[in-house]
Amino acid sequence: MMSQSTTVVLKDNWRFSKEVKEDAFSVDFDASGWEKVSVPHDWAIYGPFDKEWDKQVAAIEQNGEKIPTEKTGRTGALPHIGTGWYRNTFSVPEFKKGKKAVLVFEGAMSEPQVFLNGKKIGEWGYGYSYFYIDITESLKSGSENVLAVKLTNLPFSSRWYPGAGLYRKVSIVVREQESFAQWGTFITTPEMRGNNAVVDIKAEFHGRNVSMVTHIKDADNKIVATQKGAETADGKLHQIISVAQPHLWSPETPYLYKAVIRLFAADGTLKDEQNIKFGIRFIKYEPHKGFSLNGKVTKFKGVCLHHDLGPLGVAVNKAALRRQLTILKDMGCNAIRSSHNMPSFEQLELADEMGFMFLAESFDEWAKPKVKNGYHRFFEQYAEKDIVNLVRATRNHPCIVMWSSGNEVPDQYGAEGLTRAKFLQDVFHREDPTRPVTVGMDQVKQTMASGFGSLLDIPGLNYRVHLYEEAYKAFPQGFILGSETASTVSSRGIYKFPVVQQKEKQYDDLQCSSYDLEACSWSNVPDEDFVLQDDKPWVIGEFVWTGFDYLGEPTPYDEKWPSRSSYFGISDLAGLPKDRFYLYRSRWNTKDKTLHILPHWNWKGREGEITPVFVYTTYDSAELFVNGKSMGVQKKNNSTPQNRYRLMWNDVKYEPGVIKVIAFDSYGKKAAESEVKTAEEPYKIVLEADRRTIDADGEDIAYITVSVVDKNGVTCPLADNEMKFKVSGAADYRAACNGDATSLQVFHKDTMKLFSGKLVVLVKSNKKIGPINIEVSAHNLRTGNLRISAKQI
Ligand code: GAL
Repeated sequence: MMSQSTTVVLKDNWRFSKEVKEDAFSVDFDASGWEKVSVPHDWAIYGPFDKEWDKQVAAIEQNGEKIPTEKTGRTGALPHIGTGWYRNTFSVPEFKKGKKAVLVFEGAMSEPQVFLNGKKIGEWGYGYSYFYIDITESLKSGSENVLAVKLTNLPFSSRWYPGAGLYRKVSIVVREQESFAQWGTFITTPEMRGNNAVVDIKAEFHGRNVSMVTHIKDADNKIVATQKGAETADGKLHQIISVAQPHLWSPETPYLYKAVIRLFAADGTLKDEQNIKFGIRFIKYEPHKGFSLNGKVTKFKGVCLHHDLGPLGVAVNKAALRRQLTILKDMGCNAIRSSHNMPSFEQLELADEMGFMFLAESFDEWAKPKVKNGYHRFFEQYAEKDIVNLVRATRNHPCIVMWSSGNEVPDQYGAEGLTRAKFLQDVFHREDPTRPVTVGMDQVKQTMASGFGSLLDIPGLNYRVHLYEEAYKAFPQGFILGSETASTVSSRGIYKFPVVQQKEKQYDDLQCSSYDLEACSWSNVPDEDFVLQDDKPWVIGEFVWTGFDYLGEPTPYDEKWPSRSSYFGISDLAGLPKDRFYLYRSRWNTKDKTLHILPHWNWKGREGEITPVFVYTTYDSAELFVNGKSMGVQKKNNSTPQNRYRLMWNDVKYEPGVIKVIAFDSYGKKAAESEVKTAEEPYKIVLEADRRTIDADGEDIAYITVSVVDKNGVTCPLADNEMKFKVSGAADYRAACNGDATSLQVFHKDTMKLFSGKLVVLVKSNKKIGPINIEVSAHNLRTGNLRISAKQI
């Protein structure tokens, strides 16, 4: 049976221009000279990097600054500011009189003004919001339609790289007069009755005398339950369906069912069909016990993520998102916070499929500003609408276990702030009574005194480890969430001496040390969070700032050009793991063993100098050998947070050769070993693909890690050779990234320097089927070659 509604994704044939053309909305406007682009598109990611794009003189109050200073790179030093126009000419053959149509934007950066066939049909404010416009009256049937979208990004509108343009999907949905309403169906699984799960479906609809039939299919596409007919209550069709012996959704078992929901007219003709994936899972937040999933107390081992995808900018790409989640899964991460805005639909689909719990956030500002042109300009007019769309569009995702109405909003102060917190939380509750709401609070003392923290479903603390205990006692909820933790800073493969804990430390090369002991004045190193997570049952988990580096916010170098991306990531901007990745992995990944040594062992000129060796490992104790000489056994102990979670040999003196670690199990028996060798001169380029086969869909991306080895095959950790990329066959070269927060090399050119011996090349399917050849060359090095392939989808 064919579905009676159609979705047309407007992907190709877009024209784009950054020139200001005030009549570009008119039907007759000639856009043939504009750049041809496909959507999702980010107009700013192609650079060039320039400090002038986003230079500002400001005091960042959230960072405790009082005096304004010159800041650069705060929003990525990429040209996102200004106006951009998009035009698309399309036809919708299925559209006839009596049908309905909506135009759906999954995000448009920002302040979209939308024109169809020469007439303004709608607008929105927030660049992260999903919204739709009813175009039934303005869509032409049978002939061409001209869609024009104007986007404007003001300066000082963001604290990170927001990107620019139609960076998420745009589509048209055509429906019969009798049809389901856009984002109008809500599937919940309120309870188990014996061995049966209760599946509750409420669907908003258009038309009269309709009936609804639902089939629930399991993951093998087998029908496991059917319900014919529905009650009508509150203008919605309502069904309660029982699924026997359900497979429950969890991060470990992300089992998805599909509801095939059909709408029939009185004469029995099929009018509409929805296929909605959902999960059966049960969440509970209880005082002193914390959070449980399917009856099992579970802690959030989460990361915060900004929406950019490094070298791809913000243009959403499912392969890039899937790779991020694959890396996070290996780390043992079980949750994501979409800081500080609405997640992409693609990311939620993947979180459902791959098993990540999700904290979906909405705003970084309410009515009081953090930046001059931030969300506060839209708050009064849009906040409710933005939340309504967030909830309605995403509420069927089992991954979402909590909403957030704000992050460190300055409205934590003042009586109106309290009113706003309550108002927003009530909107969430009205739209979705099944999930609680949090706010990431940094003004913890203030929110304890004012009642702000008490009124939230979930009190979220950003940093402030020293206040957890006090907040737990002061707040009535009986638990605390580490809504944002750590903000440790490090650069992949860079180590600084002497090795000491420091705050806001700066070095001449504008990098941070990977001994993982550096943080900001307001933040801390990972071990301090671990202590609270492990010792306090009422701490329900943490969301580390951040899983990956992101464009913009180059703390602690926001006054030092050319830093232009963050140092907070557990993995770098290219997705390559920093040492910290293994610290989290040693704790979070309870399935696989971790045994990781740092630093690298190429310290020419440091011979005889103290060069501490740290080991991040699952095991409790290990022995270190330098060129065969034992440096003694270290055992994790409770003397300091670091001694509890890391093995550290602080007195090792550098001599070239081999450092080797032997780890012991709880019986003191040798369980695993690992070593790091001093490398000789760079000799040969080595390529390694994250996947050997990609889909020939024009979207899929393989990530090729490029490194250099010496004659003996030992990885060269200091190599910084300039690489040149050539891709042929069934994919094209798309971008490269080396994770260096100070690099001004643009991502899409086919050359880039290695950073700490590595970079990543992205090759993108060009719809052809067959082999893909990747060649990476550099002066005086043996060329690296790799063949992967693209297969039919
Ligand atoms: C937090 C803020 C984040 C980021 C982080 C850096 O206070 O919520 O957006 O700025 O600090 O440490």
